Amino acid sequence: MNTVTEKMLGAITGYRRPYFESQPPYLYPPYRSTVKRSPSRPLILLPHTLSEITGPVFGYDEVKPTDSDLTRQHDGDPLGERIVVSGRLLDENSRPVAHALVELWQANAAGRYRHAVDDHDAPLDPNFTGCGRVLTDSEGRYRFVTIKPGAYPWRNHYNAWRPAHLHFSLFGIGLVQRLVTQMYFPGDPLLGYDPMYNSVPDEKARLRMISTFDWENTIPDIALAFRYDIVLRGRDATPMDSTRS
Ligand SMILES: [Fe+2]
Repeated sequence: MNTVTEKMLGAITGYRRPYFESQPPYLYPPYRSTVKRSPSRPLILLPHTLSEITGPVFGYDEVKPTDSDLTRQHDGDPLGERIVVSGRLLDENSRPVAHALVELWQANAAGRYRHAVDDHDAPLDPNFTGCGRVLTDSEGRYRFVTIKPGAYPWRNHYNAWRPAHLHFSLFGIGLVQRLVTQMYFPGDPLLGYDPMYNSVPDEKARLRMISTFDWENTIPDIALAFRYDIVLRGRDATPMDSTRS
């Protein structure tokens, strides 16, 4: 590392490690795939460097306004229940994460993905691709219009069904703020049976993956709404001195 880089790195605060038990373990045997893919040796902790804490940066021209309305990506209307999903991207200190890329992918209303390896016996919808993206505004807000996804079976164990969910990918303002997660719907009876949902040890962290019904953002005659705020890891900031006059 040269002197200039060392100086720049010294001027930029690093990020906290995630809170204990707020993240699922790499190995969670009830979720069968983790047995094969979890690391078998201890992890090596790498120091944060300039590239992890200052990038990536996205240009506005790459993301079109229509990318965030999954019901308007084809000539016809997709089948299913239209919903609005919106919220804020925040860091652990409740600061908005602005200009971050939020990506969404999901099954259609019948619980089928438009993907080569999805062989679930449910219909594809010619008017629904199931992918969207948007950049957060200066207050960290994002908003999607989409279709409520259906539950679908998977081969984890006998009679295994995934609760209805949206997949989210978040690129914060540093690569160490990257998060891939799933949003669930309130009151879903399948949550208690789902090894992916239950692999998160901390109950409060688990509940953060469930959206809330959002009356304020419903669109009369058009769509119900759900709110989903997402918390990314925060800067390890020095506590503010409130006693100073
Ligand atoms: Fe899924």
